[in-house]
Amino acid sequence: MIAESEAARWREAPDSQMVCPCAGVDKAAVKAAIAQGAFTAPLVKAMTGVGRDFGCGQRRECEADLEILVALYAESPC
Ligand code: FES
Repeated sequence: MIAESEAARWREAPDSQMVCPCAGVDKAAVKAAIAQGAFTAPLVKAMTGVGRDFGCGQRRECEADLEILVALYAESPC
């Protein structure tokens, strides 16, 4: 379950808001991947590189943010 405050924070964030600084991926890139058919977080990760830095100094917190963005913007084709 995603906290409404976190969902609202990402809903209101500008497209330039960085999701994964390690990969240089912002909200716009995540939304673009979703628009191209990535309807799950693993698919978005594969397309964008979010969360792949195992030496991440931010403990890969981007993964939780990615889950929120997928919940907000992706629709399952099934
Ligand atoms: S912030 Fe995403 S891997 Fe570091």
